[in-house]
Amino acid sequence: MKKLAIALLGGTALAPAGAMAGELNLICSADVVVCEKLVGAFQGAHDGTTVNMVRLSSGEAYAKIRAEGRNPQTDLWWGGTGDPHLQAAADGLTEEYKSPMLDQLYPWAVKQAEVSGYRTVGVYSGALGWGYNKDIFASKGITPPACWKDLLDPALKGEIEIADPNSSGTAYTALATLVQLMGEDEAFAYLKELNNNVAQYTKSGSAPVKAAARGETGLGIVFQHDAVSQAVEGFPIVVGSPCEGTGYEIGSMSMVLGGPNPDEAKVFYDWVLTPEVQELMPEAGSFQIPSNASAKVPDEAPDLGSIKLIDYDFATYGSSDRRKELLARWDAEIGGRAAE
Ligand code: F6P
Repeated sequence: MKKLAIALLGGTALAPAGAMAGELNLICSADVVVCEKLVGAFQGAHDGTTVNMVRLSSGEAYAKIRAEGRNPQTDLWWGGTGDPHLQAAADGLTEEYKSPMLDQLYPWAVKQAEVSGYRTVGVYSGALGWGYNKDIFASKGITPPACWKDLLDPALKGEIEIADPNSSGTAYTALATLVQLMGEDEAFAYLKELNNNVAQYTKSGSAPVKAAARGETGLGIVFQHDAVSQAVEGFPIVVGSPCEGTGYEIGSMSMVLGGPNPDEAKVFYDWVLTPEVQELMPEAGSFQIPSNASAKVPDEAPDLGSIKLIDYDFATYGSSDRRKELLARWDAEIGGRAAE
């Protein structure tokens, strides 16, 4: 029998009694719809295996794996931005694994594995930008932004949402991108000014553009593919790509060191890197670039070749020290200010 058990990992009852053979405790850090799609497809293809899945934003997932420490409950962490996966690798929380699928992946996905000593791997990529609600902009007479600097326009006061970089990998990517584009002090000066226009810092990275789609805010700073998802669903969202250049993510996957179900974790790891499985993502409304070079790139995926990308330094900004340092400074100088 195929079971879909979405349980809170670390809770007392992870799965129904009798389902202990063939279990996998999965943290999924992409959109919940694609997380559920993958869990359903995996269970369908591996009769008898129960996947206990929890959806957590990238920074929250890292914090959970760290908190589990020497008594890991989690087996596998799929999706979410690469920086906290690299931090988990550097902290020795994740397992070295060279999947037989590695030679099918694009160089950017393999590089992610190499940089981490094979403790993580790239599963998809996508560029940062924003999505704005064109109806709100038209009715308020606001000029759509073309550049990061345009987001400081006082006409956008209260119209911008972005996530909190502690919980969200998207927002951490934005923070690290601005630091790489402007230098650290300039980036924090920019973020302080941007804060005047920010209505809310959300927990999840894609929440801001979902709010813009529903007309609750004017613009969300998000990955461009998350803005595309809302446009494809029929919301009046226009995707923006900053003129100064922008960062990008290498969405990643890591196996937890000492997790309770290493065999199932490896089976899922190899399976989820196949082109057939990566091609399921657009069916769930997710339009990242897949890491398997044979997987079809969704027509809707923003074309990374026509976006001005910075040479994002994953080794530096995924390092434990740098990430901690930037988040501490964000907490001290930016966090909580929207509520003041
Ligand atoms: O919604 C999908 C997505 O943007 C992924 O591409 C990304 O890895 C993840 O969400 C980041 O989520 P968060 O910012 O909540 O950590």
